[in-house]
Amino acid sequence: MLSGKIILVGVTGGIAAYKTPFLVRQLTEAKAAVRVVMTEAAHRFVTPLVLETLSGNPVSSELFPKEFASTHHIELARWPDLIVVAPATADFIGRVANGLAPDLLCNVLLATRTEVLLAPAMNTEMWRHSQVQENCVRLEKLGYQFVGPEEGKLATASEGEGMGRMSEPETIVKKIEAIFADRELLKGKRIVVSGGRTEEAIDPVRFLSNRSSGKMGAALAKTAARMGAKVTFVHGRMSIEPPGNTDNIPASTAEEMQKKLAEVYPKCDAVIMAAAVSDFRPEKVSQEKIKREGKLTLNLLPNPDILAGLGRAKKKQKLVGFALETGNGLANGKKKLEEKNLDILVFNRADEPDAGFDVDTNRVTLYFPSGKKEEVPLASKEEVARVILRKLAGIL
Ligand SMILES: Cc1cc2nc3c(=O)[nH]c(=O)nc-3n(C[C@H](O)[C@H](O)[C@H](O)COP(=O)(O)O)c2cc1C
Repeated sequence: MLSGKIILVGVTGGIAAYKTPFLVRQLTEAKAAVRVVMTEAAHRFVTPLVLETLSGNPVSSELFPKEFASTHHIELARWPDLIVVAPATADFIGRVANGLAPDLLCNVLLATRTEVLLAPAMNTEMWRHSQVQENCVRLEKLGYQFVGPEEGKLATASEGEGMGRMSEPETIVKKIEAIFADRELLKGKRIVVSGGRTEEAIDPVRFLSNRSSGKMGAALAKTAARMGAKVTFVHGRMSIEPPGNTDNIPASTAEEMQKKLAEVYPKCDAVIMAAAVSDFRPEKVSQEKIKREGKLTLNLLPNPDILAGLGRAKKKQKLVGFALETGNGLANGKKKLEEKNLDILVFNRADEPDAGFDVDTNRVTLYFPSGKKEEVPLASKEEVARVILRKLAGIL
């Protein structure tokens, strides 16, 4: 599975660096081409000679080498299919999260377009430190992938057991294999994702909308593109930037979103409708700002049910819809699937603090036409996106 893959392994100065040679060995045994870049601190824990011997390639460390190497950080950044940093220290994670580049490895990460997998390793207190956690959340949002850390024996007897141990080389290799497998999953497919919230004008300064941040839609669009799909992301207003690896089409109202989706629908293989579309719009939009003069009654008209419309117009396309509920939740997932002619229904709740609107995590239930139901436990929106897209890839 890794045969012919080109992998750059970064090593930083943590005690778990003693395991990196095992990782390099497993990668070369799987016939991947490997080059290693070490930080200065990493040299304290493992020798370049070991890594050079096991990778079969010279190890790079110096940003300003004695022998002329020109822009070798750019050359290294362009070389691999994947960069894996194992172990990734707290210091290194902090530098990368802040876009700093005082050493060769950080420069490589800033200059690369390749996916980066980090395997953090550190003492439990360091791992739990809010700054380290914030840095990791930031990196995850920027598209960095993580493996571990894990719970278990730490470096010294005095530290005992706890969270922060680097994942074993076997686990890191499995994650690398999963990343490469994912890249092929949607190759050649055209996927349309909708995300964000629509806004329905009341007057020139006011509108009706909702609390959707667009994070779930953006995670789906970005991840689908990483899986090899050509992605069109039709999005309403969002609290974050739309992804950089997708074709982005803005749409502000429900009717506009319906129109934009209709334009790209005939040529696509699947639509994932994750946008939070306003169910209603004001019957009349005032051309002037409405003055505060006593009571105001707004008459609302129902907006088109975009998803149901796509379901009716469906030919070869697969359709994934989201349902968001409060209170008792979804009464009948199968019925909703049939009504809207969906292939997958993703149900999430709007009244949980760690799932649904505006947060970085989600907890969903997937419904399928066969009547099967699958719970996806609390995970980052990126991870939930991967689960949904793997299911979609299975039926495309
Ligand atoms: C014995 C020893 C072990 C260390 N182990 C770790 C570790 O496991 N994780 C970590 O984040 N930092 C660890 N450090 C601290 C890092 O080496 C230090 O933050 C260094 O600046 C990291 O540099 P680098 O990120 O450029 O490799 C350790 C330091 C010492 C002295």
